[in-house]
Amino acid sequence: TTYENILVETQGKVGLIRLNRPQALNALSTPLFEDLALALDAFQADDGIGCIVLTGSPKAFAAGADIKEMKDLSFMDVYFRDFCNTGWTHVTTIRKPVIAAVAGYALGGGCELAMMCDFIIAADNAKFGQPEINLGTMPGAGGSQRLTRAVGKAKAMEMCLTGRQMDAAEAERAGLVSRVVPLAELEAEALKAAEKIASMSLPVVMMAKESVNAAFETTLAEGIRFERRLFHSTFATEDRREGMAAFADKRPAMFINR
Ligand code: HXC
Repeated sequence: TTYENILVETQGKVGLIRLNRPQALNALSTPLFEDLALALDAFQADDGIGCIVLTGSPKAFAAGADIKEMKDLSFMDVYFRDFCNTGWTHVTTIRKPVIAAVAGYALGGGCELAMMCDFIIAADNAKFGQPEINLGTMPGAGGSQRLTRAVGKAKAMEMCLTGRQMDAAEAERAGLVSRVVPLAELEAEALKAAEKIASMSLPVVMMAKESVNAAFETTLAEGIRFERRLFHSTFATEDRREGMAAFADKRPAMFINR
């Protein structure tokens, strides 16, 4: 399939999706989100894919929602179509891991999209921000919630109220990104992490992802109980048996996603 707003390729067991509206710094338009949802669903359905990488260009992961598309919308326009809820959040329904590889601007909806992914690897030129306040609006796709959970109230509040951007080093210190790599190595590093994940048992990877995500929705006691039950479930897989047998035999494990 070819798309108008994204480029899609497969590298081994990794699906790579590149946001591709260079003339608008990958501003997130409705057609772009339609493309993204189709590509994500195709990788989710493909048994040969174990992990997905979502990236942009060296200059911009995404500079936000498409302001030109939004500027003439009324309250009724955005309210009736629940703007931001449909399409935008599709990545959060994907059960395979999705890594955001962020270079350049991740602003507004771009920062929100990166935070919807399972973790963020940043290039050293990455800039994160919620600049909506400059436009007379505010985050609408989870920015005030996911950023606050990621970096705490002080930084999230300052960023949402002043529009101040965080550079890559600050984002790493604050826990927004898992690590920072040189721009030239971003894609290779993200692909390497994705290949590593894709070499694991997919059902167990999916359980681990589900368990970490539960930490955002449940009490500690419920989350720990949920984790323990999933841990027990791994003992129903052939892959868990293989992983431990391989360790005992001092050989690499051969997972079969069963
Ligand atoms: C539409 C955008 C855009 C955007 C950039 N462009 N960001 N178009 N929507 N969010 C376009 C510019 O209009 C310009 O097009 C081209 O991309 C290049 O951008 P420049 O501004 O010329 O580049 P530069 O001077 O390098 O500045 C980069 C920038 C700036 C600092 C990132 O573009 C900027 O401030 N962009 C807006 C960032 C923002 O406010 N994002 C939040 C959006 S609101 P032309 O045609 O002029 O060449 C949001 C709400 C989400 O995300 C809520 C959930 C629904």
